[in-house]
Amino acid sequence: MHPLTAKSYPALTDGWSEERKHRFPPERFQHLAETGSTNDDLLTRTRQGETAPFDLLLADRQHAGRGRRGHAWESGPARNLLFSIALPLPDDPRLWTRLPHLTARLVGEAIESILPPGTRLQSKWPNDLHYCGRKLAGILVETSPRPEPFAVVGVGVNVNQRRSEFPPELRLIATSLYEIVQCESSRLYLLGLIVEGFLDHYPEGLTRFDETLAWIAERDYLRDRRLRVETARGTITGTACGLDPEGALLVDRDDGTRERLLTAEHIEFDG
Ligand code: BTN
Repeated sequence: MHPLTAKSYPALTDGWSEERKHRFPPERFQHLAETGSTNDDLLTRTRQGETAPFDLLLADRQHAGRGRRGHAWESGPARNLLFSIALPLPDDPRLWTRLPHLTARLVGEAIESILPPGTRLQSKWPNDLHYCGRKLAGILVETSPRPEPFAVVGVGVNVNQRRSEFPPELRLIATSLYEIVQCESSRLYLLGLIVEGFLDHYPEGLTRFDETLAWIAERDYLRDRRLRVETARGTITGTACGLDPEGALLVDRDDGTRERLLTAEHIEFDG
């Protein structure tokens, strides 16, 4: 076992039932001091057929962390929660697009449970979590269809990073749990809550998707906002009006037509 894991596993699973520990034994978990990207590492293993359900890779530091659409994911050393988890995908590929939304809900529920009661996050389509308009967590879901269909779900939560430690270009648009509660939080405790969420809700949460849609609808950051959305088919301007039953973003154009978006290159507020 990797030495960091031997110390972290008991902290991660503190208070768990034996049944949960049985489903997520120490062999499923690896805690690295440093790596390039936990998503890259787990994708490599998955493509070689060397992954089991709920295999989890946690890193204190990434030097090639990746975000969506080819962006870099920057994080101060040992400040934030950076991990990837491998999840076997169901046979029906129509369910796969629900996974990023389910992940946002499970990560969001875990975060809200450690914030002062009543604190609500904002869910920014497709799957970012914000607080007071600033990004708190990002999710990168990548799939590997062979030898068996697996998803590698990468999650970055800004936990103990101080505002002054964010790169200048992120200082006004990102936040962290530290900035919200003004004290440090345990990254392992938060990770334990998130893993419990996956153990309790995966894969059933993909079929019982209404619960996730309802969670998002109560926190929908884009709803009723004027948007300019860059898509592969061009730019769309209109008003966000929620998500459809599959989690696609609905945008009402000024001419009265409705767009249904499954992906977008870039979204900005219009006016
Ligand atoms: C985004 O908002 O663009 C997604 C960010 C995802 C970042 C996490 S950090 C752990 C995992 N490893 C990576 O290289 N990326 C994800």
